[in-house]
Amino acid sequence: MIGATKAGLDVSITGLGSRVPDRVITNDELSQWVDTSDEWIVERTGIRERRFADKSEALSDVAMPACKDALAQAGLEGKDIDLLIVATVTPDMSFPSTGAILADKLGARDAAAYDLSAGCTGFMYALAQAYGMLAGGLAKRALVVGGDLLSRILDFEDRSTLVLFGDGAGAVVLEVVPEQGFLGFELGADGGGGASLWLPGSGSRLFDDPDRYVKMNGREVFKFATRVLVQSAEAVLARCGLTIDDVDVYVPHQANVRIIDHATKRLGVPSEKVVVNVDRYGNTSSGSIPLALADAAIDGRLEAGKLVLMTGMGAGLTWGSALMRWTR
Ligand code: ACO
Repeated sequence: MIGATKAGLDVSITGLGSRVPDRVITNDELSQWVDTSDEWIVERTGIRERRFADKSEALSDVAMPACKDALAQAGLEGKDIDLLIVATVTPDMSFPSTGAILADKLGARDAAAYDLSAGCTGFMYALAQAYGMLAGGLAKRALVVGGDLLSRILDFEDRSTLVLFGDGAGAVVLEVVPEQGFLGFELGADGGGGASLWLPGSGSRLFDDPDRYVKMNGREVFKFATRVLVQSAEAVLARCGLTIDDVDVYVPHQANVRIIDHATKRLGVPSEKVVVNVDRYGNTSSGSIPLALADAAIDGRLEAGKLVLMTGMGAGLTWGSALMRWTR
């Protein structure tokens, strides 16, 4: 799916918030649990530490402060929101949705609220959906949350996955605005590659193996990631009549520094334009891109008028890009 946002109302991000749990897990701490080392993890992934949620916390608890910050930045309250989408693979529970739980806690009583599952690409899918509903006039103000507590579904005895992931969430407010914010989207999925990154036993399909942990073919995912990060970014830029040289801020999915470096070089993006926080948070799945956006805002890179390119990829296998002009 690809399109430039030429028809419909203009929509942009007007508020942004993020949150990670307090507990820092260093590589050295992980090496006490599995046979790994700080040196191996840093060399292969660039990750130095990540956050793991406390046992008392669910995704909605971690996401709530991010939602409140995003609303405050937009000058809104929960009651002003009429659409709330939570992109996640680790909701509080299968139902009620984390979207409905957050809408209730925020006082967004009449909002349409639901969860969306597209692996680590979930936030990009959710942005595109919310954009479409606002541009088409179905909703006026949306809260889009991306977040995961992947520590809940990791095998603490599997070093090949345990070292990669972390917990965190981000939220953005989308509103109809007088000038064009979002310029285009490109989204896709290849279910044929689904078994390269999956969570067997987590739904209605029964498996003999009772383990419900993330299972991954790291090399296949690496090849997929390096390919789609480049293809998706190039596709959305071409559709919008722009080139990589026009991009001011590049926000790739934060899975692994080597994957980011590969995509950055192939695309030809100078390193100063690339947002990287995987060293501090690991791969936070649906939280990855909103957390990175929030970091870019904090370090002053998201000024009005800047062209921002975001590209995610993940389980499904899925991928997705959004191109936008930052409006405030
Ligand atoms: N510590 C030490 N050794 C390890 C660890 C570890 N944590 N994990 C694996 N190894 C060992 C392996 O057992 C293997 O040992 P062997 O040679 O004796 O068999 C050796 O290291 C090399 O293993 P590889 O899997 O070949 O290592 P590779 O260089 O491919 O790096 C990695 C592995 C980092 C997982 C890489 O494949 C990768 O980044 N893949 C993409 C993963 C990813 O990003 N997934 C999520 C993306 S989608 C989403 O965000 C949900």
